[in-house]
Amino acid sequence: MIHQKIVVLGTGGTIAGEAASADDAIGYNAAIRGVQTLLASVPGMAQFPFELHAEQVAQIDSKDLETQIWQHLLLRCAYWLAQPDVRGLVITHGTDTLEETAYLLHAVLSPSKPVVLTCAMRPATAVDADGPQNLKDALTVAAHSAAQGVMVVCAGTIHSAQAVQKVHPTRLDAFSSGDAGVVGRVHDGQIFLDGNWPVCQWIYAQAAIEKIANIKQWPRVEIVMSHAAAQGATVDALVSAEVAQRFGAPAVQGLVVAATGNGTLHHALEAALLRSQASGVRVVIASRCLLGSAAVKPGVSFQSSQGLSPVKARVALMLSLI
Ligand code: SIN
Repeated sequence: MIHQKIVVLGTGGTIAGEAASADDAIGYNAAIRGVQTLLASVPGMAQFPFELHAEQVAQIDSKDLETQIWQHLLLRCAYWLAQPDVRGLVITHGTDTLEETAYLLHAVLSPSKPVVLTCAMRPATAVDADGPQNLKDALTVAAHSAAQGVMVVCAGTIHSAQAVQKVHPTRLDAFSSGDAGVVGRVHDGQIFLDGNWPVCQWIYAQAAIEKIANIKQWPRVEIVMSHAAAQGATVDALVSAEVAQRFGAPAVQGLVVAATGNGTLHHALEAALLRSQASGVRVVIASRCLLGSAAVKPGVSFQSSQGLSPVKARVALMLSLI
């Protein structure tokens, strides 16, 4: 039998952050410690049944995430997932854009092996750092014989990439799966399932990965919000080729709208969006509500995000434009 391993890919974040003092959980720098050092801080790993292999893919504060890092991460994930001796992957990541990366990996890789993203809300230097336990829980999920798909593990909870959203700026349990519900929980090295492991379609992945990994410039997709006294001029400026050119930016190919309630739009914004769509810009409507999903009314001229949050709908729209 092949001796199986779990590969841990480091990308930075607060989990790898350092502060000048152990009681400082705010004034720290993210993305300082290497992934090997993070692994060394996980308690009680002597009995862990898999070999661990660590690789530093990036070292960033995830607010500064760029598509080149996504491309590199996608390629490294695809490489390791294809190795027969790899049981699964764990990715350490900042919390701020974690759901975007998780959704991207889900949409492109849809792996039949587990890919578990984890994070921390307190830096590694904090006296009560949450990173080591989160990393241990993520390794427990990746090691489970039935685990599959892209998930996020934080504060003892397992979320699917499809449902997870950061909902709190400081709480240790900063993520929610909303109405979809969580996949399960990890407690004391044991997994308790509340739902199903994410569904996988590995068969589609390879060609998509090659294409995405090789593009030089991702389609530009912006997010606008519908709110009281919204201005159509915001949309007109965003999609103006002249404005893009003046700032040396690529032209906008898609817009995701964080719409009010059940996908409704301020009339001025709607008129501008219709103009943009007529000129060839793809428009997708998501809801700015945290829970539930907008049911776009029959006859509405825009595409629905199908329940994806605005940031995930943006990832989906970029992928569909590649
Ligand atoms: C980051 O997203 O990289 C910093 C914030 C965090 O990890 O909580």
